[in-house]
Amino acid sequence: MYVAQPIEWTDNGVVMLDQRRLPSEEVSYTYTDYREVAKAIREMVIRGAPAIGVAAAMGVALGVQKSSAASIDGLKAEFPEICDTLAKTRPTAVDLFWALDRMKRRFEELLQAHADLASIRAVMIEEAKLVHLEKLATDEAIGRFGAEFMPKDGQVMTQCNAGALATAGIGTALGVIRVAYQQGHKLHVLVPETRPYLQGARLTAWELYRGGIPLTLITDNMVGHFLKTGKVGAIVTGADRIAANGDTANKIGTYQIAVLAKENSVPFYVAAPISTFDLTVPDGDHIPIEERSAEEVTHLQGVRIAPDVHAAHPAFDVTPNRYIRAIFTERGVATAPYTESLRKLVAAPAIGAGR
Ligand code: MRU
Repeated sequence: MYVAQPIEWTDNGVVMLDQRRLPSEEVSYTYTDYREVAKAIREMVIRGAPAIGVAAAMGVALGVQKSSAASIDGLKAEFPEICDTLAKTRPTAVDLFWALDRMKRRFEELLQAHADLASIRAVMIEEAKLVHLEKLATDEAIGRFGAEFMPKDGQVMTQCNAGALATAGIGTALGVIRVAYQQGHKLHVLVPETRPYLQGARLTAWELYRGGIPLTLITDNMVGHFLKTGKVGAIVTGADRIAANGDTANKIGTYQIAVLAKENSVPFYVAAPISTFDLTVPDGDHIPIEERSAEEVTHLQGVRIAPDVHAAHPAFDVTPNRYIRAIFTERGVATAPYTESLRKLVAAPAIGAGR
């Protein structure tokens, strides 16, 4: 089954598929400067929480690899600037900060071990590649846990794009759907277009179509209708940050889907890796919400569709934990009370080479 590859480390640099141009064009760029990687994250060449984490890890590795520092002290002086530049790109997806922390820890370990410049460069590249490699195993495990909760035959709904494009693995929410489909569940996916950036229409529809999974594209204001008419067996979405109490930030529009799901007795699930947990914030009120350009609301693909008025664009909303039936992770399934179940999962052993 086709799996999109949004990012790759190559000998020539970091190669990214430009997600802004999908589905009409498949164009890739090769980045050789960490500042370009930061710009690509900010401008949505790559997006989706786990994929942003992979890009940040590769950005750090690129910064270290290409640094002109001729001594360890020189590199040590440059390193914080590399990490800060990447940190200032997108504020909500915590995988970005998780990846930066991991790269910082690795750098610190190498300094402690008195590694020379050449081995620091080589090991930091290996670490970034490992972050990428782990996504596949993580997503597959999430998919296996989540697939059991999918209907054997019927419609499921998602939101935004939580597929391979968003994780650099097989996807979280779409990973669950993909695994269930491969196991023989006869699924049909309802895909809300996900205004204003249209990740549903442009990316999820494209991924499912390429993967041969049946789908119907709907506009966001059809969600209530489809949930009310009783033909949806489950909803599964991704997450950008999950607070200690299970409140979950995800693409704008997710909250209203979750509320409508409860009203219509449709189970609402979240699929996310442990790297999307942020147990340092007690609840969703403490999650920073990215405000993106109003132009993404007033314009579609560069064409103005509204008069020159004020427009708002909070890119994410928070779904309170009471609407979430379960959270699928690579280490198992969390249910309420989330403060306990999430803490237990974080303490459980990581899968594979996860650090
Ligand atoms: O603004 P985006 O496209 O980066 O938002 C992405 C989402 O909200 C996804 O649902 C989330 O990151 C989970 S991706 C597995």
